[in-house]
Amino acid sequence: MSLRRIATTPFADQKPGTSGLRKKVTVFQQPHYVENFVQAIFDVLGEKRNGATLVVGGDGRFLNREVVQTTLKIAAANGFARILVGQGGLLSTPAASNLIRISGAIGGVVLSASHNPGGPDGDFGIKFNAANGGPAPEEITGAIFRRASAITGYAMMEVPDLDLDQLGEQRLGDCLIQVVDPVADYAVMMRKLVDFDALAELFAGGFRMQFDAMSAITGPYAKAILENTLRAAPGTVRNGTPLPDFGGHHPDPNPVHAAELMEAMMRADAPDFGAASDGDGDRNMIVAPGLFVTPSDSLAILAAHAHRAPGYARGLSGVARSMPTSRAVDRVAKALGIPCYETPTGWKFFGNLLDSGRITLCGEESAGTGSDHVREKDGLWAVLLWLNILAATGQRADALVRDHWARFGRDYYTRHDYEEVDAAAANGLMQALRAQLPTLPGKTFGGLTVSECDDFAYTDPVDGSVTEQQGVRILFAEDARAVFRLSGTGTVGATLRVYLERFEPDPARHALETQAVLAPVIAAAGEIAGIARHTGRDAPSVVT
Ligand code: G6P
Ligand code: ZN
Repeated sequence: MSLRRIATTPFADQKPGTSGLRKKVTVFQQPHYVENFVQAIFDVLGEKRNGATLVVGGDGRFLNREVVQTTLKIAAANGFARILVGQGGLLSTPAASNLIRISGAIGGVVLSASHNPGGPDGDFGIKFNAANGGPAPEEITGAIFRRASAITGYAMMEVPDLDLDQLGEQRLGDCLIQVVDPVADYAVMMRKLVDFDALAELFAGGFRMQFDAMSAITGPYAKAILENTLRAAPGTVRNGTPLPDFGGHHPDPNPVHAAELMEAMMRADAPDFGAASDGDGDRNMIVAPGLFVTPSDSLAILAAHAHRAPGYARGLSGVARSMPTSRAVDRVAKALGIPCYETPTGWKFFGNLLDSGRITLCGEESAGTGSDHVREKDGLWAVLLWLNILAATGQRADALVRDHWARFGRDYYTRHDYEEVDAAAANGLMQALRAQLPTLPGKTFGGLTVSECDDFAYTDPVDGSVTEQQGVRILFAEDARAVFRLSGTGTVGATLRVYLERFEPDPARHALETQAVLAPVIAAAGEIAGIARHTGRDAPSVVT
């Protein structure tokens, strides 16, 4: 067994985005591409990696096994004393976050492109999570990019591939490799947070549920917890085996990509509850019988009822949402008398708020919800907390949602995505929009009057760091809002996201069709931003 140093030249495009380095599989398949980036991560850790523990695992997508092997061999040549790796190279993102925290690791290398499609023509990703279990903050990802852009070599153990399927310990040079059950520690944590006895009773009473794992990582987690531990009926978990290409699914839990689940939940004989998760297990989708629950509403409902679960019985210290997420949770926070923070898009911005104890719960419109139990969003956790609330209230999920609206009002919400737009055109649209901001207040578009607008900037209350240009917000006097930003996770061209919402306090108007209610806001947004003119598109590619 020998340690080899291999000379290399940098790639110019290894800049991590909203959530790690995410590219087409073919990009990662270039010789030295993975090696360079992984070595750059370890270089940024510096001396601290000597003798440290590292966590490695991914969502099982195409290339996962190969990149796990490469990462282990580079890590072992770079001074780590111990590496925890999920069996089969698998770890869901929230389980990786938990493992980092409970093992005292210096961080983790998490392999995933989240909800992006997998397979040879799909996407792959490498993300570094820090010692708190959360995505590395921008100063670290920036340093990784700088290092990767100037890298001259990497160190690697020259050994045959390790056996990742056998639980237990093996040595790789001076480094101890521990292959661990990817589910076990996660399940232990969930048992502390939610009332497993109440959930088991719920299922024993005939409660029917459908969980769509979308042939991605949450299958083994959901089967172990829902079916084997809580005794939900066999078959509750659909598409429960992780596949390298996710069975051709687009593993993004939304009404468009989880169409089969949506259809089942809209039927007269719908199960009592429907849920889905994404490629790496951090996102969630919640569907009540006959009613899709928007992620923004789900966050608000969880905030209002979390105290019913043992892990949150003492109440919440505060909550946070990303800026484009609807303001539904703000109303709950106000009623609870707790602070509500508005952060830029990206889970990493919740890290300081969670670490400092300012918030207990947080979430995003992009199907992410989480709490201070880990430093990632957590799909299955959200589902279990929902179940705990249903068990504790004895209410049907749809009734719970309607009661919530009756009490707090309803924030009608939709997101329109324009995918694979020419990058220059998309940037042009955003620039023109920013340039217009000073002139907009007081102007009327299709009956809606702009009251305020800005380009969202965030000052982190913990470390004082400022993050600018996080999306254009346009508030209308009619209690409506339009938000524009470019996606930070796409891999082809640019994706323009337009987030549209309108508040409706009157319960008599809570059962209307979302797109119809929002039609004036959609029209005003289109006109203000000149979407058709800049993008050449007369309709969004995805509406959720
Ligand atoms: C990832 C992050 C989320 C973020 C989302 C935004 O999933 O983990 O925290 O909300 O990206 O994606 P976008 O494509 O809108 O930049
Ligand atoms: Zn994800």
